[in-house]
Amino acid sequence: MSEAGWQAVDAFIGEKLLGDDPVLDLALAANAQAGLPAIDVSPAQGKMLHLLARGVGAKRILEVGTLGGYSTIWLARALPQDGRLISLEIDPTHADVARANLDRAGVADQAEVWVAPALDSLSMMQERDEPAFDFIFIDADKQNNAAYVRAALSLSHPGTMIVVDNVIREGRVLDAGSADANVAGTRALFDMLAAEPRLTATAVQTVGAKKWDGFVLAIVTH
Ligand code: SAH
Ligand code: DHB
Ligand code: MG
Repeated sequence: MSEAGWQAVDAFIGEKLLGDDPVLDLALAANAQAGLPAIDVSPAQGKMLHLLARGVGAKRILEVGTLGGYSTIWLARALPQDGRLISLEIDPTHADVARANLDRAGVADQAEVWVAPALDSLSMMQERDEPAFDFIFIDADKQNNAAYVRAALSLSHPGTMIVVDNVIREGRVLDAGSADANVAGTRALFDMLAAEPRLTATAVQTVGAKKWDGFVLAIVTH
């Protein structure tokens, strides 16, 4: 089995376990209408993020890389009524599309989008002593992944879960000599994780609608 098979299995998982979700369909349609690239997490991956955030009882969620807010909606739905999510996005058009999608999904009161380079927003959060986040999803420009995890760590508490998307990229992560800054950034992330005593981490490869890729999963230990 390869790509067609992975797609078919993702469709099966969707039918059996995810069901119809008109609000999320509407979000993807709005993204396409606005010309956003279709690089959102898949439905099964979105629900995985949702379940992980629920599993740690997240009341405060941070996302780096909003796009049209598809993953944001899945994550916001994991929050209790008084929970909060902040999503960081560099592109004001993406942020506008996302805010409309969050509004239609009924989570606009809980989820806000900050428009700036994420490293700037993260620095500002650290300066302003932003309260710690319980769950952090990193899914923006890959060359900054190590810096994002470092910033995430400073905005965390023991028990915070950190998830990073796209860390395998069809196996390109193995290419130590890659001229692609995204690959070099992901390799720097693995080096940083290996050397960081406050994090315990793994990476899990995935196939499916998003082809062959994978996630880093990490917990802040102390
Ligand atoms: N998490 C989304 C997909 C995000 S795609 C989902 O699964 O639905 C990556 C996003 O990161 C894009 O919208 C891109 O504009 C944004 N991005 C790229 N570089 C960035 C930066 N330096 N700071 C903040 N956002 C950035
Ligand atoms: C790309 C970015 C993503 O976050 C993703 O999940 C898939 C692709 C990209 O920039 O190509
Ligand atoms: Mg991604």
